[in-house]
Amino acid sequence: MDTMLKITNVSKTYSKGLIKAVDNLNLEVKCGEIFGFIGPNGAGKSTTIKMITGILPFEIGTIEVCGIDIKKHPLEAKSCIGYVPDTHSVYEKLTGKEYLNFMADMYNVSLHDRKDRCDEYLKLFNLLDAVNNQIRTYSHGMKQKLIVIGALLHNPKLWILDEPLTGLDPQSSFELKKLMQFHTKDGNTVFFSSHVLEVVEKLVNSIGIINKGKLIFEGDLEKLKKLDKNQSLEEVFLNITKGDNE
Ligand SMILES: Nc1ncnc2c1ncn2[C@@H]1O[C@H](COP(=O)(O)OP(=O)(O)OP(=O)(O)O)[C@@H](O)[C@H]1O
Ligand SMILES: [Mg+2]
Repeated sequence: MDTMLKITNVSKTYSKGLIKAVDNLNLEVKCGEIFGFIGPNGAGKSTTIKMITGILPFEIGTIEVCGIDIKKHPLEAKSCIGYVPDTHSVYEKLTGKEYLNFMADMYNVSLHDRKDRCDEYLKLFNLLDAVNNQIRTYSHGMKQKLIVIGALLHNPKLWILDEPLTGLDPQSSFELKKLMQFHTKDGNTVFFSSHVLEVVEKLVNSIGIINKGKLIFEGDLEKLKKLDKNQSLEEVFLNITKGDNE
């Protein structure tokens, strides 16, 4: 199996080196899998995701997406990625439709493809009635769903979502999980962070656990459960990240 994402010896500090958010991270995600990235608050998940997507610069280490170095060839690497951030800051004055067209233009999606995909996803997420309204009138969940659609229009090889289920109603959450599974069917990869361990347990092929900027586990659920027989993911997670709150 080919590698979709390769993170090698990446470190990131904030506040002039005072805060070590990511500490010598090494991680590999294969093509076609759903990878769950979990860890306590402040562990370094969003920082890692922002480095993968080319939003946050980093000095130490390398990140390759589809074999393309994000620092050396940022545009090529970014064209493989669809990104759903944890904040929902979108262009409030645009209508939903204008936003989706903007995203489709950015990623060179043909008129034919964008119409088909917009129709399908807007219907799926119950947004058809709102698509001509300005985004500022949307609820938190509606914005989240619009961003999800915008990130999928170019059928990204690597779909990255940071805490994607926060704020979604059960129906939308269900549809999003289905979409994540569907997206990997033809070899695409999904990388998402989450706190909802039940969701992670049901969705993922592989898992990475980060704590205080360090990767403390990488592998599948079977391997994780071998660490602590007969325990749920929640129990194993709490065990191996404990000592974090001292
Ligand atoms: N812009 C910033 N300036 C200074 N420190 C930051 C900044 N962003 C994050 N940090 C710090 O870096 C560390 C990792 O933060 P990060 O947001 O990556 O964690 P996270 O795993 O996404 O947490 P959460 O589950 O709460 O979203 C934390 O100690 C945080 O306080
Ligand atoms: Mg975060």
